Amino acid sequence: MSRESILDILDRAEHYRSAWKLGRRTSRELEDVEVGNAFFEDSTRTRISFELAERRLGARVVSFTSDGSSISKGETLLDTLQTVAAMGVALIVVRHGSAGSPGYLARHLDAGVINAGDGEHEHPTQGLLDLLTLRDAWRGRFEGRRIAIVGDIAHSRVARSAIFGLRTLGAEVTIAGPATLMPREGELSAAVAPTVEEALQGADAVMALRLQRERMDEASVPSTREYARVWGLNAERVELMTAEGVVLHPGPMNRGVEITSEVADGSRSVVLDQVENGVAVRCAVLARCAEALGRC
Ligand code: NCD
Repeated sequence: MSRESILDILDRAEHYRSAWKLGRRTSRELEDVEVGNAFFEDSTRTRISFELAERRLGARVVSFTSDGSSISKGETLLDTLQTVAAMGVALIVVRHGSAGSPGYLARHLDAGVINAGDGEHEHPTQGLLDLLTLRDAWRGRFEGRRIAIVGDIAHSRVARSAIFGLRTLGAEVTIAGPATLMPREGELSAAVAPTVEEALQGADAVMALRLQRERMDEASVPSTREYARVWGLNAERVELMTAEGVVLHPGPMNRGVEITSEVADGSRSVVLDQVENGVAVRCAVLARCAEALGRC
């Protein structure tokens, strides 16, 4: 995505958010548009916020998973979604464990495809909601700001999308985590810090990541207690940031592992702002896609 497209989505999202704050109803831009949510991996926030965004825009919504659909009978992903598209569904939101699957589907389906997280690859709407949250915290300025991203970077689609967006808007990124959970050298455009303390020193924000146990082999981390001691965000560590430095976490949080409850619920935490911004960003993405398809 270009800087202009990112900023357009953030501005639209801000517009929805302020309308809701004033108690106004969302314009029903997706009235008469049918949207399918195809989630083939677990999800709470992303799935619910996509559904809410679709409903707020007036869309008709169908949601399904692999359980109970013909995928469990051996039908391919493409055949299943082609079937859904043939029924008239114009936009399909996909979460899938295979990196690249939404891109593949987008090339083969008549419907528009929105990536809600593909394996270890990308999670674009999460990246956009992180950017909106940081734009508020940083009063609109990304240049000269620095964020530390701490934890399981190697398996994190959240980190990949956030780093892409942050670098595009001009912020600096430092990553830190156990050597077994770091990306290959030079894979991401981020500086690497050897300790969480060095990553946090003078940072304007920190993002803690969950250990993606479902995507790693058992040997990657010796124990969660050891991980919490060496890499976890605690009250003392977050004070290494600037006075205004904020704490982000995409959720789901494992309290006591990558973040203490004191930090998760503390005054620097913007975790629930991220969740609120998620609905607004997804409205903006859905409306933009429907426009591109000539549906609104
Ligand atoms: C993340 C995901 O699924 O990639 N959660 C989310 O979408 N908010 C991060 C995670 O599962 O740790």
